[in-house]
Amino acid sequence: MSKQFQFKLVLLGESAVGKSSLVLRFVKNQFDDYRESTIGAAFLTQTVTLDDQTIVKFEIWDTAGQERYKVSLTQAPMYYRNANCAVVVYDITQASSLDKARTWIRELQRQADPSIVIALCGNKTDLAVRRQVTQEEAKKYADEEGLMWFETSAKTGEGVSEVFTAIAKKLPLS
Ligand code: GTP
Ligand code: MG
Repeated sequence: MSKQFQFKLVLLGESAVGKSSLVLRFVKNQFDDYRESTIGAAFLTQTVTLDDQTIVKFEIWDTAGQERYKVSLTQAPMYYRNANCAVVVYDITQASSLDKARTWIRELQRQADPSIVIALCGNKTDLAVRRQVTQEEAKKYADEEGLMWFETSAKTGEGVSEVFTAIAKKLPLS
């Protein structure tokens, strides 16, 4: 007999860091070179099988980075409410995107459920020749804040399933 658990996951981060691309890779194992900006938020689901007994279903809210100045957690749009976990994404080739990620993380720490599991994710590792954010800098920040930290490429798929599996393992399964 297997047990299924359901969790709400929200993706946050500056526009064009690759939030929708990470979800597309995770849910459909696909990638688009020309992806349009998300308007509002998109809802998708995907399951992770931890072992024969344990299936974790993620209800994923992929939010629009372009609305970053309008949407705040204090307004409590429905996709932040009751989120069990959050993936806050930056682009390793854009230093400013890590600043934006820090802002989102501060908001989550202030406004979200205190038990929320937060993963910081540096995307676009396939563009490492243009890297502006070092692994050391991001990892140090994540350690200080008690966050999980990953690097991914939605384009090649590198590291993507690991993010969701690691989150699933951190969630309360009982
Ligand atoms: P908003 O919806 O505006 O918030 O943007 P987003 O964070 O959802 O970004 P999106 O997934 O739309 O990706 C933006 C652009 O970056 C697209 O042209 C993608 O093809 C590209 N992109 C996303 N992930 C990667 C990656 O890992 N590597 C490379 N090279 N390009 C990527
Ligand atoms: Mg998007």
